[in-house]
Amino acid sequence: MDRIRIRGGAPLHGTIPISGAKNAALPLMIASLLTDEALELVNVPRLADVSSLLRVLSNFGVDHTIAGKRPGQTTETGQTIRLSARTIIDTTAPYELVSTMRASFWVIAPLVARLGEARVSMPGGCAIGTRPVDLLLMALENLGAEIDIEGGYVIARAPKGLKGGEIVFPKVTVGGTHVALMAAALADGTTVIENAAREPEVVDLANCLVKMGASIEGAGQSQVVVTGVPRLHGATHEVLPDRIETGTYAMAVAMTGGDVVLENTRPDLLQFALDVLGQAGADISPTNQGLRVRRNGGGINAVDVTTDPFPGFPTDLQAQFMALMTRANGTSRIRETIFENRFMHVQELARLGAHIRLDGDSAIVEGVERLRGAPVMATDLRASVSLVIAGLASEGETTINRVYHLDRGFESLETKLNRCGAEIERVRG
Ligand code: EPZ
Repeated sequence: MDRIRIRGGAPLHGTIPISGAKNAALPLMIASLLTDEALELVNVPRLADVSSLLRVLSNFGVDHTIAGKRPGQTTETGQTIRLSARTIIDTTAPYELVSTMRASFWVIAPLVARLGEARVSMPGGCAIGTRPVDLLLMALENLGAEIDIEGGYVIARAPKGLKGGEIVFPKVTVGGTHVALMAAALADGTTVIENAAREPEVVDLANCLVKMGASIEGAGQSQVVVTGVPRLHGATHEVLPDRIETGTYAMAVAMTGGDVVLENTRPDLLQFALDVLGQAGADISPTNQGLRVRRNGGGINAVDVTTDPFPGFPTDLQAQFMALMTRANGTSRIRETIFENRFMHVQELARLGAHIRLDGDSAIVEGVERLRGAPVMATDLRASVSLVIAGLASEGETTINRVYHLDRGFESLETKLNRCGAEIERVRG
């Protein structure tokens, strides 16, 4: 298995291009199932999760072509994928495919909406918590789908098509909102979604669905109204920038010091996290290309943070922020409210010399003067990259094992960091 080796201590200087958002690209690719015409997605990141989802979609009979690289393009320039679900040959998503990536469960919505039936493996637990799908199924039931669970599979049926209805989410769910939007787009009548997720990736999906002919009002707000249409058509859509990748590199610079421009990104996608980074001592300014992040000389201030649905502080940046706080002057409290078990990185950060104590849903991080490199283990995607950030600011060598987690969500991580002066390399093994 590959490992990442880091020799810490170098500040970061240069430019990092930000990729298209993984968590927008995945639901957008799934939306291709809603139409028999081609959906062309631009700026899709080159990631293992994208390849896994292509395998799931191919299984249903979706054709795809990936445009070749044009002259001058680098591997960090996103790819253009054209997906055509003209003929669906199978409406089953088997366990072997769904278990590698939870988001593939969302195919249940377009399949039942367009074909009246779907059979999708239950996704199972994962390293960050139990992550049930009850609210996704509730959304489909409220639109008239019959749901059965047999042999580990969810079977959704709506032989006469879905009907518009009211969906009130008792808690904010990104996946639930994606499912509700896709299902309601082809339902007969009007659907009102209450307490919808307001994440930028939800808005990106809604924007693409509108280009495909859907009628959606209020995406990005708590109440979304979808008026169903009989069919959707093809479209071209550019995936929005990855706010989590943006925040991750911003935190890396805050931690190592230096001066980096994050290109092709938008501050409004992560304003809350940028404000927190500002309080922690980073100097952040928007530029024509994106965002400039600097920290020269001054120390890192301890800041308390609670994760929340958008526009709050994202759970997907919690581990990276904790890495930063391990070097702060003082003690910070980081509270995780979205997932119940998203502290797997705590023990690994401790191997680098961090002082962190868990207290229920919170981690109390007492800043230390220095971290020292050590072998550590990646446990999930965002936890892995928090170890990269910590490794960049540790004395000596850090080796991160199980890096396949990083490849799921960070495009060309070593190349991007190397170009900014980091000593980081992949050791094939
Ligand atoms: C999405 O997961 C993201 N994944 C996650 O990113 C992200 O952490 C999460 O949203 C929260 O922002 C993708 O977009 C592919 P949820 P999702 O439904 O949709 C509970 C990453 O690292 N819940 O918003 O699965 C759930 O257990 C990943 O890129 C139910 O109880 O998350 C959690 O506590 C990790 N029942 C909360 O809601 C349900 O039916 C929010 O989960 C569904 C969810």
